[in-house]
Amino acid sequence: MSSTNKTVVVGVTGGIAAYKSAELVSRLYKAGISVQVIMTENATRFITPLTLRTLSGNPVLTDAFQEDNRWRVQHIGIAEEADLLVIAPATANIIAKIAHGLADDLLSTVVLATRAPLLLVPAMNTNMFTNPVVQENLATLRKRGFHVLEPDEGELACGVSGKGRMPEVDVIFRRVWELLAPRTDFAGKTLLITSGPTQEDIDPVRYITNRSTGRMGLALAHQAMARGGKVILVTGPTNLPLPEGASIVRVRSAREMFERAKEYYPHCDIVIGAAAVADYRPRTYSEQKVKKSDDDLVIELTRNPDILGELGRDKRNRILVGFAAETGDLIANGEAKMKKKNLDLLVANDVTLDGAGFGVDTNIVTIISRKGEITSLPKMSKDDLARIILDKIAELF
Ligand code: PMT
Repeated sequence: MSSTNKTVVVGVTGGIAAYKSAELVSRLYKAGISVQVIMTENATRFITPLTLRTLSGNPVLTDAFQEDNRWRVQHIGIAEEADLLVIAPATANIIAKIAHGLADDLLSTVVLATRAPLLLVPAMNTNMFTNPVVQENLATLRKRGFHVLEPDEGELACGVSGKGRMPEVDVIFRRVWELLAPRTDFAGKTLLITSGPTQEDIDPVRYITNRSTGRMGLALAHQAMARGGKVILVTGPTNLPLPEGASIVRVRSAREMFERAKEYYPHCDIVIGAAAVADYRPRTYSEQKVKKSDDDLVIELTRNPDILGELGRDKRNRILVGFAAETGDLIANGEAKMKKKNLDLLVANDVTLDGAGFGVDTNIVTIISRKGEITSLPKMSKDDLARIILDKIAELF
């Protein structure tokens, strides 16, 4: 009997990162979790079942027809007992099998049979990971509510550098723990999150925009919902899949974003401005495509509304959080923005740093609070950062 009364099934598939599953199994076991390991046949070529049996304290299962009298029907018994299934490393093959409902070995059969949450930890060569078919399969699985931990970037075992490394065991362990004991500190709270870029039309074919992809805003939306919050996501154009369960409000221009944010503002307790809003738009919109000539073209720009600034004027007891995309003087600029917009927290990112700001999966930020607390954080995934920002917001409840 485990001291937590929780059972985690750890699926190990055939990749070089399989050796790291030993540390994961050991961490889970030491945390008082009952661990049942299932290995695919290929995984046993990278690490022996004996190692994982010793670390988990349970026989390791590798075969759907293995004699094991702990259960009447093995795959159903394991599937029912599991509080969580984590597959680490998850190869492109197991991801494809799960996405398409194949069940041709014990692990894929248990995945189909369980109602427990599933956490996938993909680890593979960069070209395989970025292959559109793998990305499509992952997007399908995310849509169906599976949890996917993004791989790290770095030097891979195959000698190339890029995205595909299995995250550190510590990161996987924390995620497992969160999924086993979900936090509900945002239950009853409504968050209005602005996200993504805005597009400011010049004429029917051209517009001014910026490099925001919406990743940061989406990470905040996902994490807030995972903690019981209701999310209204006002998003500029993005190619990323939008979270199911959130109220999605699609906009293009800053003025549209402002109008829709104002509409939902009375219904929310917390506002997070992660959107990269254009400060200026063309003064006039040309109904016809602007024709080119031999002369330079001058486009006059006019100010857009400051969305957070305007909302901050009628704040009442709401919590307002802003971001600051800076290229220098992070803290001074961040503090000035916090004051001007009447914010409670300001997340300042120096967008010139590698792995920070626009487009990437990671961010490097300094969080400034109204009370003057300054927290400088190292490079981390936008999901991890979203969790920390929500922790800081929860402290203000
Ligand atoms: O979307 P990603 O690719 O993941 O990139 C993430 C990000 C870089 C967009 C994000 O981390 C970020 O920094 N978002 C804010 C970008 C920005 O517009 O910063 P700013 O310093 O110009 O604006 C300060 C704050 O005021 C922001 O919260 C912004 O949403 C808000 N603002 C700005 C202008 C405006 N007219 N209205 C606003 O509400």
